[in-house]
Order: sequence, then structure tokens, then C-alpha cells
Amino acid sequence: MSLRVGVLVSGEGSNLQALIDTVHSEGVVEIVCVGSNNPEAHGLERAREAGIERGVFAASDYGSREERDAALGDWLEQHGVELVVLAGFMELLRPQLVRRLAGRIINIHPSLLPAFPGVHPIEEALDYGVQVMGVTVHFVDEGVDSGPIILQEAFDPVPYSRDIAAVERRVHEIEHRLLPQAVRLVAAGRVRIDPANPRRVIVEEASDGD
Ligand code: GRF
Repeated sequence: MSLRVGVLVSGEGSNLQALIDTVHSEGVVEIVCVGSNNPEAHGLERAREAGIERGVFAASDYGSREERDAALGDWLEQHGVELVVLAGFMELLRPQLVRRLAGRIINIHPSLLPAFPGVHPIEEALDYGVQVMGVTVHFVDEGVDSGPIILQEAFDPVPYSRDIAAVERRVHEIEHRLLPQAVRLVAAGRVRIDPANPRRVIVEEASDGD
């Protein structure tokens, strides 16, 4: 049976689409539900087109963020979700939900963490003048983009023009490969935290050397 995955999105959902077109279509995992804090998120439309159940969890519909996150956690549980993927989910989940999902929640972030966590990593990296940029997939912990790193991919040189749209295109190209690759590794049971150092992630070699 394939791993049951829930994806959370806030906007465009191109990373969700990459997952739908690869690991979901191939039956490596089953994306059983897509949730969003934003009822207008295009990602919800992508889920609808793929026949995947959707849920809206806008913070403004609840008395507090804790209540919202509790409802979101219940909904993910009701769907039997074994792995939660934050694919452009732009709100921080409260510690209670992160703890409830410990070790079963991953995020994609458009910088080489720990550099430039937060909501504007690409702009900040360009303003800083870095020469190498990249993408990170990591486990989610209670901090901001601070969990153990599963995969990273760098690119350089950053286009000299420092044209943000060009950089975003390059970032997306990498993200749309790296996130499915991470989900594939988790689904294959090849990703675990090093018991000797919980900051480090061990990715097992595939038997065929993949
Ligand atoms: C991606 O760059 C992701 O790394 C960041 O938000 C963006 C979401 O893009 N967290 P999309 O909604 O998947 O198109």
C-alpha cells in the first residue's frame, strides 16, 4: 500500500502539482488530501482537478491559531495521513501540532538553510549578495525552517542580472525535482534521524545504488 500523504499549500501550488505529476501519479504515494489556510489558493484548484479532497483552514475562521491547528490535525488524522508535506504553506504551525506530527512533517524552503529562513529568503539572499543559492527539504520542528535537513541542492552562479524572476524560475525548477525526490525517499523508508545526533538525517543508499 502506498504512503498516505497530506499536502498543505497557501498559494500557487506548483510544488503540489509536481508531486501530483510524479510520486502521486506513479502510485509511490497517495495524496489523500490537500489543505490550505487560504480559500483562494490556486493549489486547491489543482487538487480539485486531480480529484483530491480539499479542506480550508483559515485562521480567521477559528478563535485562535491553536484551535485552527487542532482542527487541521484532526482532519489530517481522519484521512489517515502518514506524511504531511508543506509545499508553500506560508504560516507557522503551532508547536502542539508540530509535536503531534513529529517526524512525519517536511517542508520545502527556497534557500540553503540555515541561511535565510523565513518568508522572503530569495529577496534576502539577493540583497545579501550571495553567489550560491539553493533549495532545502527538511523535517519541520518547532522553529522557523530550523528542522533537520533531508536534501539540499545548490545552484550557481546566481544570474548576474540578479533578476528575481529568473532566480525564482531556477528555484522552482530545482524544487519540482527535489521535493518529489524527498517524498520518494521517505516513502521507501530510506530517511531517518541519526540517533547519535538528532540534527542529522541519514539517507540510506538504495540497494541498486540509486
Ligand atoms: C516555493 O518556492 C516554496 O519553497 C516556498 O513557497 C513557494 C511555493 O510555491 N515555501 P508553489 O506554491 O509551490 O508554487
